[in-house]
Amino acid sequence: MTMRAPLAAVLGLGMVTAGLAAGPSFDFMPDGGRALFETVFPGQAGLAVLAQDRSLDEWLAVIAAAAPDLEIRHARTLAGYLAANASIAAVAALSDPSSALPPDGKDLALLRCQSCHSLFTGYLMQRRDDAAWRGVFASPFHVGIAMTPAELATFADYSAVNMPLRIEDVPPELRF
Ligand code: HEC
Repeated sequence: MTMRAPLAAVLGLGMVTAGLAAGPSFDFMPDGGRALFETVFPGQAGLAVLAQDRSLDEWLAVIAAAAPDLEIRHARTLAGYLAANASIAAVAALSDPSSALPPDGKDLALLRCQSCHSLFTGYLMQRRDDAAWRGVFASPFHVGIAMTPAELATFADYSAVNMPLRIEDVPPELRF
C-alpha cells in the first residue's frame, strides 16, 4: 500500500478499526455504497462521476457502464447510496472528496444499532422493505437515534436490499 493510503485509511480502515474495537470483524456483512464506490470508481479519476447528482435509475446506468460484471445487488446498493445522498455532487468539489463521502448503510448499522441490543436479532435477521426499515425509527425506544434524512434514506435502502442475511453467513459468536 502506498502513501496515498490516507484515502483508504479514512474509507476502509476506519471500518476495520471499528470492527476491531467491537471485537468481531463485520466483513461478512455486504459492502455498503461507500466501500462499493471505491471498487467501481477507483482513485481520483473515479471521483469525477460525483460531479452530477442523479436519480436511482440514472446511477444504475452509470454503474452498469463502469462495472458491467458487478453483482446486481451490489450495483443496486451503490446506486441507492448515491441517489439517497442528494448533495453528493458537492463532495466532488472538496479538496479530499473521498474522505467526505457520507456514511453508507453498513456504516450506519454498525454505528447506530449495536449499543442497546444485538445486531443479529434487531438487524441482520430482519426482512423489511424500505418503509418498514424507516418504521423502526418510529418506535418510542428508537426515536432518540440520531440520523439525518439522507442517512435514514441510505440506511433504509441498504437494509431493504441487503437484509436479512442467511444465518450461516453470520459468525456463530454473533448469533445471539
Ligand atoms: C437506544 C437504544 C436502542 C438503539 C440504539 C437501537 N435500539 Fe432497537 N430496540 C431497543 C429497545 C429497547 C427495543 C425493544 C426491546 C427489545 O426488543 O430488545 C428494541 C427493539 C428493536 C426491534 C424489534 C422491535 C421493532 O421495533 O420492530 C428492532 C427491529 C430493532 N430494535 C432495530 C434496531 C435498529 C435497526 C437499530 C439501529 C438503527 C436499533 N434498533 C437501535 C433499543 C434500541
